[in-house]
Amino acid sequence: MNHLDAAPINLAGKICVVTGANGGIGQSICDHFLALGASVMATDIASNASLSKEDVSRDKFSYQPFDLLSQDGLSACEDWIMQSKLDVLVNNAALFGMGNVLEADLAQYDKLFGLNVRSAYLLMQAAGKTMVKNGTHGSIINMASQAGHRGEALVAHYCATKAAIISYTQSAALALAPHKIRVNAISPGVIDTPMWKDVDALFAKFENLEIGEKKRLVGQAVPLGYMGNPNEIAKASVFLASQQSSYITAQTINVDGGNVLR
Ligand SMILES: NC(=O)c1ccc[n+]([C@@H]2O[C@H](COP(=O)([O-])OP(=O)(O)OC[C@H]3O[C@@H](n4cnc5c(N)ncnc54)[C@H](O)[C@@H]3O)[C@@H](O)[C@H]2O)c1
Repeated sequence: MNHLDAAPINLAGKICVVTGANGGIGQSICDHFLALGASVMATDIASNASLSKEDVSRDKFSYQPFDLLSQDGLSACEDWIMQSKLDVLVNNAALFGMGNVLEADLAQYDKLFGLNVRSAYLLMQAAGKTMVKNGTHGSIINMASQAGHRGEALVAHYCATKAAIISYTQSAALALAPHKIRVNAISPGVIDTPMWKDVDALFAKFENLEIGEKKRLVGQAVPLGYMGNPNEIAKASVFLASQQSSYITAQTINVDGGNVLR
């Protein structure tokens, strides 16, 4: 008979790199990983971490600023990862933008693909190489989006970046499976974070809505009836970082209150 393998999740001893760590979802992931005993190497573009003072003072938390849209910043972040003994990478930093294919310009394309895809791809490569070199059976988690499952008339570039993340997740998972490194994505639905201030303002402009209207409408439309909390994405990240998900790779897990049914 198989022995039970459902011990409470414990990330003690794991070294976890989190990008976009100052954002709504990134902060919550760092908080959860720290609370479960992991060491967290956090990065974002700002010079200081915006995690709570209590967390930042923990000796298991370190923060390095990198602008992942600049070649120097990205290369420095790759080096930072390759010098670590990481077990987990969460590729979470991203930017949102709006415009249909007749209007959205190449400047927006370069910015969104530069951060959301190029940096995520290169950091995944750096993490994968480091894990292979160290013989680490690690876990890579890429932040996709419900926008990656279906194009939207007004959100051409952002949707395309998230579709690319889902595809890279599958390719990387298959390439790294022989090394027992798992690669998965999380596809959040609508989550109440600072990103939504920009998203709501952009929809107000493009759809001629009152400020706050789009945010209210998307929350109402979720089958579970509310906008998600960043903690609900962090809990899925904890699961994918841990041994509880040991047989899961190449998947994109929808964490969206029922918005996407595939
Ligand atoms: N909030 C949602 O509804 C939602 C839905 C689907 C997917 N997502 C995804 O979840 C992830 C986190 O989103 P969030 O809602 O927490 O957004 P957020 O805006 O709160 O956080 C994003 C972080 O990325 C950082 N960043 C921006 N430019 C950067 C750069 N050049 N270099 C380094 N870091 C940079 C920002 O400083 C910010 O802290 C993103 O990948 C986003 O696409 C969010």
